[in-house]
Amino acid sequence: IAAPLTIAIDGPAAAGKGTLAKRLAAHYGLPYLDTGLLYRAVGRLADEQGVDLDDAEAAGAVARALDAGAIDEAALRGREAGELASRVAAHPPVRAALEAFQRAFAADPRGAVLDGRDIGTVICPGARVKIFVTASAEVRARRRTDELAAKGRTVEYERILAEVRERDARDAGRAAAPLKPAADARLLDTSELDIETAFRAACAIVDQAPH
Ligand code: CDP
Ligand code: CDP
Repeated sequence: IAAPLTIAIDGPAAAGKGTLAKRLAAHYGLPYLDTGLLYRAVGRLADEQGVDLDDAEAAGAVARALDAGAIDEAALRGREAGELASRVAAHPPVRAALEAFQRAFAADPRGAVLDGRDIGTVICPGARVKIFVTASAEVRARRRTDELAAKGRTVEYERILAEVRERDARDAGRAAAPLKPAADARLLDTSELDIETAFRAACAIVDQAPH
């Protein structure tokens, strides 16, 4: 029986983590978990319940009550949920409440692909493959702007760029599980790579990883 293939994908907002992680999961026949959705769900629920997003204990209680297996992805995709997520994600009680679900998912005997901010550093420190996906803030903001335009929504590039920078600063600047590459992560800068080229580069990293 082959050892489980656990692939940890981390990086800043709109780097292309989800797109890459999904393709890797399909290619290697592994289950995939978008861990950002968990934080988005907590941020949204806390907001709906009128919880103070700066109150770590109150946000932690929302996270502990979350049914992580029943998350409505479509309702959580937007920029507002991303912003709410990054605010509650700074609180240790929120992170602690979401840890068991993520670790259990990653313990699948086949392995798994997880993407987020702290997969390689906290959730799966022993992952066989760790990839830190980056791209310049300008490229990431351009991708998000184009994505919205494709859905018929016009949002100013400058505004998206400011949001991207703000989220980067909050995610990298927090004390609890800050966004940073694990010491043994491979960096993949996709600023000048299309999706197909980034996918092939990631496959090469996976296929070269020691078994
Ligand atoms: O999950 P994350 O927020 O990191 O990014 P994503 O939602 O997977 O990708 C953001 C956007 O960048 C999507 O519209 C992708 O089609 C696009 N993109 C990419 O993911 N990878 C590239 N190498 C080029 C573009
Ligand atoms: O798709 P995008 O990269 O824009 O965001 P996401 O992956 O859905 O994550 C939303 C927010 O949740 C991030 O800005 C982080 O603050 C938080 N997050 C986290 O702290 N740890 C994770 N493993 C995943 C997300």
